[in-house]
Amino acid sequence: MNVTVMPLTETFAAEVGDVDLGAPLDATAFAAIADAFARYAVLVFPGQRLDEEAQLAFARRFGPIEPNFLAVNSEQKFRVTPELIDISNLTPEGAIWEADSRMREFYVGNQLWHTDSSFKRVPAKASLLYARAVAPLGGHTEFADLRAAYDALPAATQARIAGLVAEHDIAVSRARTGFAEFTAAERAALPPVPQVLVRTVPESGRRSLYLAAHAGRILGLPEAAGRALLDELMAHATRREFVYTHRWRVGDLVLWDNRCTMHRGTPFDDQRHVRDMLRATVADVANSCEQEGVVAAS
Ligand code: OGA
Ligand code: MN
Repeated sequence: MNVTVMPLTETFAAEVGDVDLGAPLDATAFAAIADAFARYAVLVFPGQRLDEEAQLAFARRFGPIEPNFLAVNSEQKFRVTPELIDISNLTPEGAIWEADSRMREFYVGNQLWHTDSSFKRVPAKASLLYARAVAPLGGHTEFADLRAAYDALPAATQARIAGLVAEHDIAVSRARTGFAEFTAAERAALPPVPQVLVRTVPESGRRSLYLAAHAGRILGLPEAAGRALLDELMAHATRREFVYTHRWRVGDLVLWDNRCTMHRGTPFDDQRHVRDMLRATVADVANSCEQEGVVAAS
């Protein structure tokens, strides 16, 4: 049977059915998924039954799996294979985390608009988040279409931001939530990195903003002017008309393009309910400045 694609909006987010991601996909099925990914940027695959290896195997069709930076901390324990990012509210032993736990304080940052791993020199191309248990209330994920947001900018703004480079830093987004307890090894592994403000997604040819809560300054602009521009672009890009809200069901796998979307989690009662999600993250091919042929000003 052929894969079925049901758009959620005309140009952003679609549901994909008639496909079992737990079984090997033939070239035709994968090509249909890759086409839909290029067009919609967010794909929802309901009713999947994936173990860790099956989720990783599907993710690897899009490229190599990104290393888990939490593994630089040798004290860190993992509940699942460190090749997957554990997006649950559970300890490595499987209990609901304590109110003052370090992971809980770190993961609040996922409630800020961001794109995955833009704070790494080579950021994430795609993420595949799979729901094993969902919260009965809240715990949704919102996605913003940064291509549509770019297209809707006034031509003068598009011209003003062309070629600009932002500095992305995990410490910047974590400072916004009050988290500052990085270890020396984590800091050393994650220095600030340059990323273009506007990029082109090769598969669709579409221009897109490239933004995240990790971005704190714009290279070559005074600190305050850079921040003001980033705030203005973030507010524009997350207007409701560009946003799709995903309400999770157990067995949903959601695949998104980190090159041209942002996302954020919404709150839920994480001291009462288990929300168990695992993320496979596919690395991009190079730093975004390199991909765009932009040289970062200092
Ligand atoms: C992520 C993320 C938000 C959420 O998995 O990268 O930001 O709703 N998740 O869990
Ligand atoms: Mn994320």
